Amino acid sequence: MTLLVLGGTSEAKELSYALADAKIDAMISLAGATREPVEMPLPTRHGGFGGEAGFRAFLDENQITAVLDATHPFASQITNRTARVCTVLNIPYLQLLRPAWEPEGGDDWTEIADESDAALYIHKWQTVFLGTGRNTLEKFNGLEGSRVICRLIDPPTEPFPFEGGEFLIGRPPFSVERELSLFRDLDIDWLIVKNAGGEASKPKLIAAREMGVPVLMLKRPRMPAVRRVATVPEALDWARAL
Ligand SMILES: NC(=O)c1ccc[n+]([C@@H]2O[C@H](COP(=O)([O-])OP(=O)(O)OC[C@H]3O[C@@H](n4cnc5c(N)ncnc54)[C@H](OP(=O)(O)O)[C@@H]3O)[C@@H](O)[C@H]2O)c1
Repeated sequence: MTLLVLGGTSEAKELSYALADAKIDAMISLAGATREPVEMPLPTRHGGFGGEAGFRAFLDENQITAVLDATHPFASQITNRTARVCTVLNIPYLQLLRPAWEPEGGDDWTEIADESDAALYIHKWQTVFLGTGRNTLEKFNGLEGSRVICRLIDPPTEPFPFEGGEFLIGRPPFSVERELSLFRDLDIDWLIVKNAGGEASKPKLIAAREMGVPVLMLKRPRMPAVRRVATVPEALDWARAL
């Protein structure tokens, strides 16, 4: 049996260590989004498979007998495709998806369905902190003219795609204290985040709450109806039972 883990999240990393400890035959695939990805305790491949045909060929060549999808809660393309292909090929598939964040007392969140909706709320004279990454930056172009600060892990290879934007480089984790000090220095009026869930990215939400800064929260994309768990131990149990 060879289990393929689709990674890109802290849960995928944690699961990889658990699988390695349990001596379960597994490998992990990373999208190749970060230039210096962290080392994994499992055999690791990087980058896209080359569409559905490439993915099917990969499953075949590597004799993959099960797939554990621990990709990002916004990576709906790979999740939808993988779930569909596994169903067709009769390969056991499980999604590990961390729960979404829920607002707590003192939070001032507005849910938006799409990046372009941000322009409905933000004035030209305001400063916005984007914790949403590089992938969907162009979709915020309705914010042109506002001061838009986009934090990235790796230095950008291209200029900011619209006027008024600037990049800020920073590698997580970030503590609440660090986020508070950054947000105060930048004097932000808005925070925009994807509802990724989990503890690692939460400090910026806590900092926004403490400062009374409103948050535009991007809703998660639709995911297929699949077998799903929310935690690493549950995913490990599934893998052990295969
Ligand atoms: N994936 C991550 O590590 C990650 C981490 C943080 C945030 N996000 C967020 O999730 C959203 C979509 O991200 P995305 O482009 O990664 O997902 P996606 O839109 O679902 O997938 C796009 C393509 O990326 C490749 N891919 C994605 N995950 C892969 C993996 N684990 N192994 C191999 N190939 C993989 C596949 O390429 P082929 O068709 O060539 O196979 C896939 O078709 C963005 O908003 C992004 O900011 C993703």
